[in-house]
Amino acid sequence: MAELSYSSYLQTETLLSLQETQIPETADPTVVLAEHFFIVAHQSCELWLKQTVADLSLARDLLSGPCRPAEGAETGVELLQRAAELLRVLHEQVLVLERLQLRHFVQFRPYLGTASGAQSEQFRVLGRLLGDGKEEGELYEAFVANATHQHCTVAEVCRLGSAGGVLHRVAEALLDVGNGYWRWKVAHLGLMSKMVGGQQGTGGTSGEEFLMRRITLPFPELRRLRGALHAEELSPSPA
Ligand code: HEM
Repeated sequence: MAELSYSSYLQTETLLSLQETQIPETADPTVVLAEHFFIVAHQSCELWLKQTVADLSLARDLLSGPCRPAEGAETGVELLQRAAELLRVLHEQVLVLERLQLRHFVQFRPYLGTASGAQSEQFRVLGRLLGDGKEEGELYEAFVANATHQHCTVAEVCRLGSAGGVLHRVAEALLDVGNGYWRWKVAHLGLMSKMVGGQQGTGGTSGEEFLMRRITLPFPELRRLRGALHAEELSPSPA
């Protein structure tokens, strides 16, 4: 077997050959480089997303398994915490694109055709894992199953706080992931609005208005149950 090197292990030659700009190479080199920057930011997002989706999918599977639910939850917490950090990186990938100059973007944007981030399959999978503001996703369902296997309810986990042990840590990590996702969506809307204003998206949507409607906070039931503690605190305890 051939000795591994940095480039053969990471396949850097293939990786670095994947940034194919669409604008003709005869165009202003600053504009070609701006399109290259745009591609690098998107490809980086897809790579980090690959890890995020894999981490969250494994966390879901570990949480929902009926055998040794507490152990599954411990590893689940680690994976959820890592995914929350990855969402922070994804958020930064969006912020870095704010350094794209509008005068360059208007020149290469027509070459994007109908390609749009809205077609990202990995983002769709992430959406199914996290759910949206109305419907719970696969991760929350797995959390409920794990609590049930540990003879507990999510309401009790909220009431117990840190005394809830690993289930409390899962709930906290889920909210870190959910808020990270929400921050990404808000930053993406800000970027989009800065770059195309009220214009239609390349994917054919209204752009701003479409994205605004899609900004939701995952795990609505967990948030509601936590909020309900305020009301419990106010109501007099039975004599
Ligand atoms: C200059 C930069 C960007 C602009 C102008 C932009 C613009 C848009 C617009 C207008 C949409 C709505 C769909 C459409 O009609 O096309 C959209 C959706 C989307 N974009 Fe971007 N985008 C940018 C950067 C990014 C980056 C870096 C990513 C990361 C991969 C990304 C991922 C997405 C995703 C996942 C959606 C669907 C969002 C949802 O359904 O809530 N975009 N983008």
